[in-house]
Amino acid sequence: TRTINLAVIAGDGIGPEVVAEAVKVLTAVLPSDVTVDATEYPFGATHFLRTGEILPDEGLAALAKHDVILLGAVGGDPRDPRLAGGLIERGLLLRLRFALDHYVNLRPSRLFPSVVSPLANPGAVDFIVVREGTEGPYVGNGGAIRVGTPHEVANEVSVNTAFGVERLVRYAFGAAAGRERKKLTLVHKTNVLTHAGGLWQRTVDRVAAEFPSVAVDYLHVDAATIFLVTDPSRFDVIVTDNLFGDILTDLAAAISGGIGLGASGNINPDGAFPSMFEPVHGSAPDIAGKQLADPTAAILSVALMLDHLGLADASARVTAAVTADLASRGANGRSTSQIGDAIAALI
Ligand code: NAD
Ligand code: IPM
Ligand code: MN
Repeated sequence: TRTINLAVIAGDGIGPEVVAEAVKVLTAVLPSDVTVDATEYPFGATHFLRTGEILPDEGLAALAKHDVILLGAVGGDPRDPRLAGGLIERGLLLRLRFALDHYVNLRPSRLFPSVVSPLANPGAVDFIVVREGTEGPYVGNGGAIRVGTPHEVANEVSVNTAFGVERLVRYAFGAAAGRERKKLTLVHKTNVLTHAGGLWQRTVDRVAAEFPSVAVDYLHVDAATIFLVTDPSRFDVIVTDNLFGDILTDLAAAISGGIGLGASGNINPDGAFPSMFEPVHGSAPDIAGKQLADPTAAILSVALMLDHLGLADASARVTAAVTADLASRGANGRSTSQIGDAIAALI
């Protein structure tokens, strides 16, 4: 019998609501020779406001010992001055991504049959965004002077290393080579961000030589937003930096049926650290505590987690159950737990 040592960070807002359903489905799908040993960690904005603790070193060390991490969402009321400056986002979520070297932020977008896209003619939407997870402007390498004066200068510096870009690009090519259409699109803004853009373009050109089966394309990020709306079926694998990837994947979720369906994995492909799976969405304070959240994104994140663990069969069963559930969704709203129950029952 194999035991999966799972860490669960339910987090804030709708996080605990969607994670409960994701764990329900995970429990339902496990083969008889696999068990899950789950440990819950309380971290998030709520925990911080109660205890003053964000992510203590011992907490990080304990999390690092798990096989995988499942996270709901973290972040509180954006107007709460005690949480200003992305305190929780940076101190918890980004700290985990950086410390656990989650350099691949994998975000698939697929328009499931029977799901209605807001686009009139979406075509076959089935692509993945391979978003860099440890660099870019997210590093926090910036600063401000004369803050609050008319002469304030505020800088955010995007960090792009040859090492960081190359390992991500190589992962993206590998993913493209394993897909049917074998097409990779680099998305950047090389016409303005010339230093970083040059590094990304040269890296893609060089690694492309190792993957002759993959067709390579390039789009500026602004044009990429046009085609995501007018012709999303042109995309197969998008490789891009941390910030562009963040923005594009909310858009990608929206065109494929909504943010409630967007799954993601923060992956450390080398396996030196546990990977972390979470929905693309946040804590949604506007609907939290009302059982209004769609848990499907969290459940599909479990499918990504099972794939990562080498349990491809179980992963496919989760996706199949979600597909069947989506096909039977009517106009009538169901609660978060009713959707989770239905998907678990379909397993
Ligand atoms: P959000 O994703 O929480 O919400 C955006 C909109 O989408 C809201 O109208 C919300 O109700 C809706 N929505 C989100 N998830 C949904 C679901 N599962 N079902 C139905 N509707 C859903 O983004 P935001 O409002 O920009 O951020 C809220 C907080 O979450 C902030 O503190 C932010 O920093 C944080 N955040 C955390 C994560 C994370 O933990 N990975 C990701 C994004 C945002
Ligand atoms: C996401 C979120 C995070 C990000 C925030 C909360 C730091 O928006 O996971 O997409 O920007 O990566
Ligand atoms: Mn985001």
